[in-house]
Amino acid sequence: MRLEGKVALITGSASGLKGELMGFGGAAAWMFVREGAKVVLSDISDDAGRKTVSQLVESGAEAIYLHLDVTSEEQWREAVDATVSAFGKLDILVNNAGTGATFNVEDTSEEVWDDQMAVHAKGTFLGTKHAIPHMRRAGGGSIINISSINGLIGSPTSAAYHAAKGAVRLFTKAAAVQYAGDRIRVNSVHPGYAMTPLTRNMFSDPEQLGVRIARVPMGRAAVADEIANAILYLASDESSFVTGSEVVVDGGVTAQ
Ligand SMILES: NC(=O)c1ccc[n+]([C@@H]2O[C@H](COP(=O)([O-])OP(=O)(O)OC[C@H]3O[C@@H](n4cnc5c(N)ncnc54)[C@H](O)[C@@H]3O)[C@@H](O)[C@H]2O)c1
Repeated sequence: MRLEGKVALITGSASGLKGELMGFGGAAAWMFVREGAKVVLSDISDDAGRKTVSQLVESGAEAIYLHLDVTSEEQWREAVDATVSAFGKLDILVNNAGTGATFNVEDTSEEVWDDQMAVHAKGTFLGTKHAIPHMRRAGGGSIINISSINGLIGSPTSAAYHAAKGAVRLFTKAAAVQYAGDRIRVNSVHPGYAMTPLTRNMFSDPEQLGVRIARVPMGRAAVADEIANAILYLASDESSFVTGSEVVVDGGVTAQ
């Protein structure tokens, strides 16, 4: 019971149905409840999110679903308030929601740029901003921001995604320094290539998958649980002296 008594809010966590391909947020939700947490799942994909929560509740978990578009400050206010109303406090926030955009610089429209910055950079900022007062009141907390290896290195595609995930990386360090005195830890996770609903189409193309796997010393893509394990470590008190750090889970891609 590594999260006994804790309350967690996870964004972008709709894809968590047992027997189907899970995303990091859905996989983390199952791990969190297994370890004793009460969990608020949130997403803009409401049908999938509600189905995931039904399965969690049927399995005996304490979990609720909230609609939360992470680009809306108003919806963040409502979601954090609803979390505290339902479960009394907020100890753990996982800023996980995300979308892809595989364009190089010249092919990136202003709209794509703004959208990437909104969901990753602004979404992470707004969530952190609205979680902090509640975590301070609870005596501390842990915020886990899902960046990417694409927040550490470049690639032939995804210019706006790289920029937005890089912003998540450094925002994490600023928040970690600013709120360490409140016992609020803020860390980023940098997954490598993983098979999830987000990447399923791209990775179903053997050529697209092959190009990426060729960059991985371990020679394969990750599964969602391998990323969720890192999220769980940062959420738990086992990481009590870890803040402002980058946990890379990439099979060795960025070691080269
Ligand atoms: N799969 C990979 O290879 C990989 C690698 C590195 C980083 N990531 C990052 O991991 C995170 C989780 O992705 P995943 O691969 O588990 O896929 P996923 O599809 O399970 O998760 C993304 C979720 O975000 C939700 N979402 C999109 N826009 C939103 C918004 N405005 N507000 C709220 N929710 C929104 C989607 O509906 C989806 O459920 C993302 O931030 C992604 O960029 C993924």
